[in-house]
Amino acid sequence: MQFTPEIEERLARLQEKYEAMGQDMTSYLDGLLYADFLTYWDYIHLDTLLSLQNPKTPFPDEEIFIIYHQITELHFKLMLHECRQIAAKQPLTAEFFITRLQRINRYFEALTHSFDIMVDGMEKEQFLKFRMSLLPASGFQSGQYRMIEIYATDFINLVAADKREELKSSTIEEQFEYLYWKFGATELSTGKKTLTLKQFEKKYAADFIALGKANVSHNFNVLFRQLKERGQATPALENELKQLDINVNVNWPLSHFKSAVRYLHREPEEIKATGGTNWQKYLPPRFQKRIFYPALWNAEEIENWGKGWVEKVLREV
Ligand code: HEM
Repeated sequence: MQFTPEIEERLARLQEKYEAMGQDMTSYLDGLLYADFLTYWDYIHLDTLLSLQNPKTPFPDEEIFIIYHQITELHFKLMLHECRQIAAKQPLTAEFFITRLQRINRYFEALTHSFDIMVDGMEKEQFLKFRMSLLPASGFQSGQYRMIEIYATDFINLVAADKREELKSSTIEEQFEYLYWKFGATELSTGKKTLTLKQFEKKYAADFIALGKANVSHNFNVLFRQLKERGQATPALENELKQLDINVNVNWPLSHFKSAVRYLHREPEEIKATGGTNWQKYLPPRFQKRIFYPALWNAEEIENWGKGWVEKVLREV
């Protein structure tokens, strides 16, 4: 059998590669000879993926609830994948920063647009029953969601608004005690930490604090300021950061809030959330005013945060 020059060239390069590592190329060629062909289902671990939906009740719509949460967590994973690349990039250019922020924004927008799967896609009667079997678990306990926030901004911007001034020179550990979400997860009747919050902290507190410390010098706000000081920040970069702010702190929370209203709103008394929060007061973005990049918004925009028109302004930039 005659080898074409292309194959001979590949063999020579392979020989070089294995020699450089002190390996025997023939053994690796044997490996190729005996290996199975890759299949789609093995490559993406499809059988494992499809075995991860285990409803706690016989209500069929619970499966929709589980799968949509899993879809969301996979999107969060995609976002964190980009967050890590931005934080690690040396040297970081405005161009790289923008393309990665665009990816994160696209993932968030996909989630915001698909949230009707939750809002309209389940029977309320089924939801109100199967949710009782999930107590005290809540999407509130999404660790990846909180990690995205920690990459996106200075830790102090995640501290409850009324504590921010007082704690601005405190350590990450001290600031952690006053993160905004802790105040959402207090029992309505007693004012104590909910079990949902206690379990969440037990699992993730150390990770959040470690990430907060690592990101003191690598969160997106700092990275943006550094580029700006070097005269390398562009209006396009600023706009992409503002879009992220809107996506994470207004648009997704609003579409999520719609689902809480759809299933938990009841006259004269609201239905209690599985995490035990006072959800009508806690969830709406206009109450929380979480803002990653306050320096990029004017006083009026901050004042009207979460009220709809901020998005319109952004589109006009
Ligand atoms: C029918 C659908 C949903 C309803 C009714 C709902 C309801 C709620 C409620 C009431 C809270 C406040 C915490 C609590 O007391 O439990 C909450 C928080 C949260 N949920 Fe959902 N949720 C739904 C779907 C989802 C989905 C699909 C996700 C995706 C992971 C999610 C992620 C979150 C997150 C990240 C929080 C914390 C928000 C914050 O701290 O501002 N939720 N949800």
